[in-house]
Amino acid sequence: MSQHPPIPLVDLATQSRNIRDEVLRRMSDVIDAGRYILGQEVAEFEEIFAKYCQVSHAIGVANGTDALHLALRALEIGPGDEVITVGNSFAATAFAIAYTGADAVFVDIDPVTFNIDPTLIEQAITAKTKAIIPVHLYGQPAPMREIMEIAGRHNLYVVEDCAQSHGAEIDGQRCGSFGDFGCFSFYPGKNLGAFGDGGAIVTKDARLADRVHLLRNYGQKVKNRHDLLGYNCRLDTVQACVLLTKMQYIEKWTEERRQVARWYAEELADLDLALPQESPGYRHVYHLYVVRHPRRDDLLSFLAQENIFGGIHYPNPLFTAQPFAGSRTLPFELPICSRYAKEILSLPMYPEMTREHVERIARRIRQFSPVPAEVV
Ligand SMILES: Cc1ncc(COP(=O)(O)O)c(C=O)c1O
Repeated sequence: MSQHPPIPLVDLATQSRNIRDEVLRRMSDVIDAGRYILGQEVAEFEEIFAKYCQVSHAIGVANGTDALHLALRALEIGPGDEVITVGNSFAATAFAIAYTGADAVFVDIDPVTFNIDPTLIEQAITAKTKAIIPVHLYGQPAPMREIMEIAGRHNLYVVEDCAQSHGAEIDGQRCGSFGDFGCFSFYPGKNLGAFGDGGAIVTKDARLADRVHLLRNYGQKVKNRHDLLGYNCRLDTVQACVLLTKMQYIEKWTEERRQVARWYAEELADLDLALPQESPGYRHVYHLYVVRHPRRDDLLSFLAQENIFGGIHYPNPLFTAQPFAGSRTLPFELPICSRYAKEILSLPMYPEMTREHVERIARRIRQFSPVPAEVV
């Protein structure tokens, strides 16, 4: 077994330790005040997060999956409708569509950015199509200008899946502010993570924000008056304490992630790995640092032998999951998604990583047997 200390895929404990006192102070106020559902801290966080996303409204919810689900509910998407999304996201993106009774239609990705290929979206549109859910995968914005142009021409809603893209931008415009809704996850490992589950929906539209407010809390604007079939999808007050604290550091941590990505790019440049590419004018926030290698599984094991732990995001394209058997895919069975699912591997990525960590990882990859050039 390796003598080297472990380098995990993400290191939540170090970051949590650094902000522990501040979080506990806020939580202690909440405990003393006896307000544990919604409340002042949630409202305060929503205001700060809306500004951060360059929108007028943010609504805290219980998790990122609920954020997507409620956004689609607010747009009255349901049985008989189709929603176009991408084939290589986390399952929740497509699950949220299925929860409404609508059909998910999966399109393939751009081979360089890993994000939805806008040239395929138009071919996937039918009379039933109601919305597009682009995912800003791994922290790189999806091509929102192209997507908004297509959506405008076909009168479709756009719900951005921002679960991995807090603070990502295109030409200075933040992800979440392009479409009708932006949906965020605050799952602990996300760039902005709670100490448990959390999520938010952002929008510029006051009417849609109003609907989401109702949907997250049993359809109530006034207690015990239920104006529509709502849900219990509220953000906890104690989670808002964590998020409020972390909002002070999110930009610093994002820049640190970007620095780690630059170190990786330097250290791995001469290897036959396909590295992430930041599109011009785009701000990639490196939720994950995903490379490709034709012997991905062997490389992952080789790294693990030296206490370096990678991951796979995601090993199976969404259309292959049981709940989506028989779904429409464009092109048929998504050749790029399907190939990449076997080649991608996520290297360790978190703000507290040092240059020495990156050098050690690069050294180990270099020791791996020579790589066929066809991967790049
Ligand atoms: C792309 C994407 N969409 C949606 C989700 C769902 O978020 P949550 O786990 O908070 O429900 C996640 C994260 O888990 C995600 O990575």
